[in-house]
Amino acid sequence: MTETLTVLGVESSCDDTAAAVIRSNPGQTDILANVVEGQSTLHAPFGGVVPEIAARAHAERADLCVETALVAANIGLEEIDLIAVTSGPGLIGGVLSGVMCAEGIAAGLSIPLMGVNHLEGHALTPRLTDDLATPYLLLLVSGGHCQIIEVIAPGSYRRIGGSIDDAPGEAFDKIAKHLGLGYPGGPEVEREAANGDPLRFKLPRPLLDRPDCDMSFSGLKTAVRRECDKIVETKGGLSQADRADICASFQAAATEAMVEKTRRAMNLMIHDRGWPKGGRRLAVAGGVAANRSIRSSLEETANELGFSFTAPPLKLCTDNAAMIAWAAIERWRLGDRNPKVMARPRWPLDELAPPMLGGGKKGPRA
Ligand code: KG4
Ligand code: ZN
Repeated sequence: MTETLTVLGVESSCDDTAAAVIRSNPGQTDILANVVEGQSTLHAPFGGVVPEIAARAHAERADLCVETALVAANIGLEEIDLIAVTSGPGLIGGVLSGVMCAEGIAAGLSIPLMGVNHLEGHALTPRLTDDLATPYLLLLVSGGHCQIIEVIAPGSYRRIGGSIDDAPGEAFDKIAKHLGLGYPGGPEVEREAANGDPLRFKLPRPLLDRPDCDMSFSGLKTAVRRECDKIVETKGGLSQADRADICASFQAAATEAMVEKTRRAMNLMIHDRGWPKGGRRLAVAGGVAANRSIRSSLEETANELGFSFTAPPLKLCTDNAAMIAWAAIERWRLGDRNPKVMARPRWPLDELAPPMLGGGKKGPRA
């Protein structure tokens, strides 16, 4: 195999079926195609991801997605050197659909297949988009994940903190559902929040009284629900302004919780790890990173502490297969040749860290 690698990535761990083609040599990487088939319309009536529906949709769409990606990349299957597939963590039915699809293609072409940790895909994306040097801190916040990870080097990660219950995206989605807004809830809540008063409701800032970098969103979500119920009891329903104020107050609380814990993690890197000026880097990934209030507060705090701030473009921040193909390339270049692909619902990036508590609607926490 030459230094240039053309890799087909497949991702199906949650509610996006995705395929991508990346061509990379050590000095230059191009994303030739990045196809994401979302399933929002299938899950919208339920206000959240239904695992069985997701698994069926992945099984039906994975090969079509691969075909679309190959056409978009304008290459034939025979030009693919390596196949990368998410083999965990995630909803096991969906993960299995992707793994079976990728195994079939790899066997048919007699080319190697690599199972990729979905979280590693997110963690290494800033190196694909911005060639970010290691080490760096990553805040990964989506509908299924909430972790602060120290990316020491590709293949070497330390979990600094994470949510002990819901992921923040999940809280945005559930609050949107409670308010009768659309799915996914994050963008809807952000839109409402733009016209609201973030100071009207005094909502908790969970776990800020603890010195660690762990977060919690379940209690915050319940507090929001209680405020809604109080208004309904007294006024008979929520006005447009009530909804906007609730969204703004919740967004402010969630932002403060995430940003404050990330600040602590940055301080830890400065004081405990001795990250020098000029070598301090923060990156963000996951769907919640689309939120402008969260993004800008993180950037401000990073600047304050002398950290650079990297936020990959949204299409590569949310679930996609380009990040899976890229993580496989990084692993391949490290000499990793792992022909055994095992679908895993749970697969922590930092194998030494104790499991976080809680389950969550999107399966066990990694
Ligand atoms: O990374 P992603 O596409 O999929 C996973 O959950 O893994 O993230 C989707 C999540 C959803 O919960 C969605 O509500 C949230 O990201 N999200 C947002 C925003 N856009 C998407 N949350 C807050 N503000 C947003 N603008
Ligand atoms: Zn993800």
